[in-house]
Amino acid sequence: MRHFIDLLDWDGEQILKLLKDATRIKKATLKGKCKPVLNGKILGMVFEKPSLRTRVSFQAGMAQLGGQAIFLNGTDAGLGKRESLPDIVRTLCEFVDAIVLRTFQHDNVTEFARWASKPVINGLSDYYHPCQAIGDLLTIREAFGDLEGRTLVFVGDGNNVARSLAIACGKVGMRFVLSAPEGYRFDQPFLEIYQTHVRGQLDEIHDPTKAVKEADIIYTDVWASMGQESETKERLKHFAKYQVNAELLKHAMDHVKIMHCLPAHRGEEITDDVMDGPLSVAFPQAGNRMHAQKALLVWALDV
Ligand code: CP
Ligand code: NVA
Repeated sequence: MRHFIDLLDWDGEQILKLLKDATRIKKATLKGKCKPVLNGKILGMVFEKPSLRTRVSFQAGMAQLGGQAIFLNGTDAGLGKRESLPDIVRTLCEFVDAIVLRTFQHDNVTEFARWASKPVINGLSDYYHPCQAIGDLLTIREAFGDLEGRTLVFVGDGNNVARSLAIACGKVGMRFVLSAPEGYRFDQPFLEIYQTHVRGQLDEIHDPTKAVKEADIIYTDVWASMGQESETKERLKHFAKYQVNAELLKHAMDHVKIMHCLPAHRGEEITDDVMDGPLSVAFPQAGNRMHAQKALLVWALDV
């Protein structure tokens, strides 16, 4: 079954092939010539957390490929509340051809995949966000023309987005540097997973002014992710020195690009002038979510 859970089971070649397909599909789409290869296919989408990009990019992408998507929010699906997870999954698989799940505990994604007779795509869990990572590689490749040997410096929380990006970068020969305050760096289990499944170049440079010196890409994300809202005040204090702003960019190379997975908390992890400035690729980055995921859907549905 072609599940897409955490990218750990993918190799660099597979990822590069996906990016090539995404580029081809993107070009065709921009010319109004996207082939309806998913005609008659239905994507089920179960989202326990809010979403703009993931939801719309999957729904629009599915429609452009000739298929359809059905969206269920957490309350409607009632994961483990209205009925058990295995019952939901087995029922959904009677109706749809693939499922995107956005949830809290990552175990829900692996459990979904365990019970599913159709491909399951992780649309974000507390631990990973692999759809974001493939879209981001597409953006980096468009910006630089290559991936191997590039350095991405993630300034911020060692969260779901950071973990998936670290994996994706490692698989395609990019160096990933995390610059985070104490208490928000990569957890030991993740570092062990990375060593077993990726073995790329992963470094942590705690001082952001030193870290960004080596960056081709500076990447950031919110300091408090969905589900961590009650920690916001404390996190604002701990992350204060980790804002991506004009002062920090003085330490970076001229060719650096700024990325953000969005949604942004402007004035916290990133300032308006940087987000809206000439180095930022955050909005084409959002657009590439759809193009990468279209290639992913074609792969998952094996058409
Ligand atoms: N980047 C991202 O996944 O955005 P949404 O939460 O809006 O889907
Ligand atoms: N780390 C963020 C990413 C949102 C796309 C979150 O989980 O809320």
